[in-house]
Amino acid sequence: MMSLEAEILELKKKHNAVILAHYYEDGAIQDIADYVGDSLYLAQLGEKLTNPVILLAGVVFMGESVKLLSPDKTVLVPDLAAGCSLVDTSPYERYLEWRRKYPEAISVTYVNSSAAVKSISDVCVTSSNAEKIIGAIPQDRMIAFGPDRNLGRYLSKKLNRDMIFWPGSCMVHVLFSARKLFELKQQHPDALVLAHPESSEAVLQYANVIGATSRLLKEVVENHAVKKFIVATEDGIFHQMRKARPEVELIQAPAEGSCACNQCPYMKMNTLEKIRNSLRTLEPKVQIPPEFMESGRVPLDRMMAITEGRPVTWPERFTK
Ligand code: 13P
Ligand code: SF4
Repeated sequence: MMSLEAEILELKKKHNAVILAHYYEDGAIQDIADYVGDSLYLAQLGEKLTNPVILLAGVVFMGESVKLLSPDKTVLVPDLAAGCSLVDTSPYERYLEWRRKYPEAISVTYVNSSAAVKSISDVCVTSSNAEKIIGAIPQDRMIAFGPDRNLGRYLSKKLNRDMIFWPGSCMVHVLFSARKLFELKQQHPDALVLAHPESSEAVLQYANVIGATSRLLKEVVENHAVKKFIVATEDGIFHQMRKARPEVELIQAPAEGSCACNQCPYMKMNTLEKIRNSLRTLEPKVQIPPEFMESGRVPLDRMMAITEGRPVTWPERFTK
């Protein structure tokens, strides 16, 4: 009998498909993927690759970004229930109501959002390009940032820009405990603390390096002066960290309580079996309601333009 991995490789060849995986996926999924990366990298690749079929081993909003940028490609996410707490807590109608309160503001929306919410936003950001994107917004424009308040607060403080925040958060990152992290740091004074900016302000105050998944991985890969890292992000990232530096000690930042809260239940919905099934049937496909297709792409295009150093223009006010 053929192994799951061998079947996946064969099906990939048959459909000229490519597998993109986020760093939060299980190690076995990362190892079978053609490309592994953070959310910006995966969105950029999705647009550039010429394969007609893209299987995104990640969560649905990541698949939606690829679909918005490449409407003619078949985009598969092995389990469409793989959502995100940020998406769940920013429903379109309520977000629209909030957006309408600040018509003169630039609406900056984290990619961890639905296509519908993107369709009423001016520009998207990921945690790896947010500083550059916000830096490109004229100083005299107000910023309405959503749906992740922790990322927004971190950026507002770092860039010294006032912002209005949508009150959303990541269910995984908010559970890291600042008190326990402080204690852990005392026990390991030689460790460097790495944290994703979706973590709370209380946790971020103890971090030596704050950044996207790719930035945290880069620190482990390149900082050879350090032999011990405390990592405050989802535990899937440990796979690449261990592969790159098997000799270093990696300590998971502690969460409140004794749950396995450092695992994103949505990211972990993907399995090799579901990937195989998805490539067999070319289902489930990421579908975007037609009314959000063009408008949902606008903030992503603006984000890509700024990321690549191209000029952009900004709307004077929100009129929807
Ligand atoms: P990155 O953009 O850093 O990969 O993060 C995605 C994400 O979902 C974090 O929770
Ligand atoms: Fe969403 Fe948090 Fe999971 Fe990332 S880790 S996909 S922000 S719930």
